[in-house]
Amino acid sequence: MSGEPIILAVETSCDETSAAVLRGQRELLGHVILSQDVHRIFGGVVPELASRAHLRVVDDVVNGALAEAGLRLDDVDVFGVTAGPGLIGALLVGVSWVKGAAFALDRPVVAVHHMEAHLFATSLEHPEAEPPFVGLLVSGGHTMLIWVPEWGAYELLGETRDDAAGEAFDKVAKILGLGYPGGPVIQKVSAEGDPKAFHFPRGMFHGGQQPGDDDYYTFSFSGLKTSVLTRVRQLEKDGGLEEQIPNLAASFQAAVVDVLVGKTMRAVQEKGCGRVVIGGGVAASRALRAGLTEALGENGELYYPSMRLATDNAAMIARAAAFRYSRGEVAGLDLTARADLPFPGMVRA
Ligand code: KG4
Ligand code: ZN
Repeated sequence: MSGEPIILAVETSCDETSAAVLRGQRELLGHVILSQDVHRIFGGVVPELASRAHLRVVDDVVNGALAEAGLRLDDVDVFGVTAGPGLIGALLVGVSWVKGAAFALDRPVVAVHHMEAHLFATSLEHPEAEPPFVGLLVSGGHTMLIWVPEWGAYELLGETRDDAAGEAFDKVAKILGLGYPGGPVIQKVSAEGDPKAFHFPRGMFHGGQQPGDDDYYTFSFSGLKTSVLTRVRQLEKDGGLEEQIPNLAASFQAAVVDVLVGKTMRAVQEKGCGRVVIGGGVAASRALRAGLTEALGENGELYYPSMRLATDNAAMIARAAAFRYSRGEVAGLDLTARADLPFPGMVRA
């Protein structure tokens, strides 16, 4: 291998089949993301359908990324793959594909943790999105507030004790009859609504909490979801639900954003660090970005990924693989997928 390694990464942890070709740490040469539409019919991801869809398209998606990069499979120096967390059957498609290719070509494989990759995503587009920073990861499966003094060293300040932030968007969208995935459609409908129309609870977030309290950084969104449901039932009974949908969506979105912003600002305060990097599908939320930008003010710096790099993608997997590879971390042929893969380098505060 001469010069910077060419990394081919594959992501199949949920309902996007994606492949990316990266040179070195951040030069993205090719990137294809194929979203599976079929889950919309069911209002959520159906694991068996996801696995089958990955299997059908993974070859084409990889070939597409290589073609965009103007490279052949043989030009790849290192393979990266999401090994977890995620849907086990879906993960196995990517892991098996990459292991097969790496074995055939005699190249190393780097196993990537999906959420660590979300943390890296923004750095592909913003060279300043580097540690130290306060990281907020908000996806369909996770909500984590993390202190990142350097890449690979993560202090978990808080996570959700029930629903993830994205999951709350998805469940509330379902309750409001808006379809799946919930985030983008709630954002759209909220634009017509008043965020103050309904007062929904800010779970685990109140002024009486002190640093050191168990719940100071903990998130909880299931009470909020129940509260929306109760309102919807009442409006169904009393009439007028239809015209209240934008207000319900906007008020719900405001409640989620308030809590995410509030807890992130606590971390900014405690760590004395005004640099915040957000990642995961909910990082695509315009309301969240606006809320954080305003709370951080002139002395803070907010970095967020473009829409394409916020939701699931292989570019971030390649970026995380490049970091792990630079540290000599290579997986053995016994590599397998793990639905509950532990976050590497993470300690609890
Ligand atoms: O990171 P991601 O693509 O997949 C997981 O790893 O889970 O995140 C998907 C989540 C979904 O729950 C979706 O509703 C949410 O991200 N999402 C949003 C927005 N766009 C996507 N949530 C709020 N506002 C958005 N604009
Ligand atoms: Zn994700």
